[in-house]
Amino acid sequence: MEQKILLLIFFYLLNNSSANVIDSVCKATQDYKLCNESLASNPNSANEDAKGLARIMLYMALHKTTHIIVYVKRMIIENKFPDYRSVCEDCLEACDKNYNFILHHFVLNAIKYFEVEMYHDATFAIGLSGLNVSTCADACVNCNAFNLTNRSNEYAYFVLVVGDVIDYLY
Ligand SMILES: *[C@@H]1O[C@H](CO)[C@@H](O)[C@H](O)[C@H]1NC(C)=O
Ligand SMILES: *[C@@H]1O[C@H](CO)[C@@H](O)[C@H](O)[C@H]1NC(C)=O
Ligand SMILES: *[C@@H]1O[C@H](CO)[C@@H](O)[C@H](O)[C@H]1NC(C)=O
Ligand SMILES: *[C@@H]1O[C@H](CO)[C@@H](O)[C@H](O)[C@H]1NC(C)=O
Repeated sequence: MEQKILLLIFFYLLNNSSANVIDSVCKATQDYKLCNESLASNPNSANEDAKGLARIMLYMALHKTTHIIVYVKRMIIENKFPDYRSVCEDCLEACDKNYNFILHHFVLNAIKYFEVEMYHDATFAIGLSGLNVSTCADACVNCNAFNLTNRSNEYAYFVLVVGDVIDYLY
């Protein structure tokens, strides 16, 4: 009985401390709400320190880029823009290339830098990944059937918050 209570107190403190880390880290970012929502809703955040939380944010950025790539590839396969065929095909190809480049060149590099504690370079690389999304958006201005602008903007904004979370480490 006593042991159970001690265990409960222990887990309460553990949980509470991870909430406090999320709170302190997110207060240092430009968007507390987005940061907290991203981290607090992720079960992997429990018991992580600031470094662990930064890693989770980086992997969220990675998931966002892979989701966009999968979405673009699905659009290419479905190929249902008869009225705009060539212009939309070009835009989809450009977006596929752009996001693969972002994934391999910027996001995976940011993760590599992060793992060897080169935090400045990690922040820089993840920041560049957000600036690069306009290549896809620009290629699609004439394809009315397909619009990645919102997702690109959302991604570009998210990585700024990821950079802030990494910045908290130094
Ligand atoms: C942080 O996010 C969690 C989960 O969405 C929520 O329960 C909590 O109220 C949020 N904290 C603040 C201070 O907004
Ligand atoms: C994205 O990166 C590629 C490769 O470095 C570059 O050619 C392109 O101009 C960049 N686009 C933007 C919008 O920064
Ligand atoms: C794409 O969506 C954005 C935001 O909704 C809008 O500003 C832009 O004009 C749209 N582009 C096209 C080509 O429809
Ligand atoms: C993009 O976002 C704007 C504003 O948030 C919204 O009004 C619009 O419908 C969105 N466009 C698409 C294509 O999702």
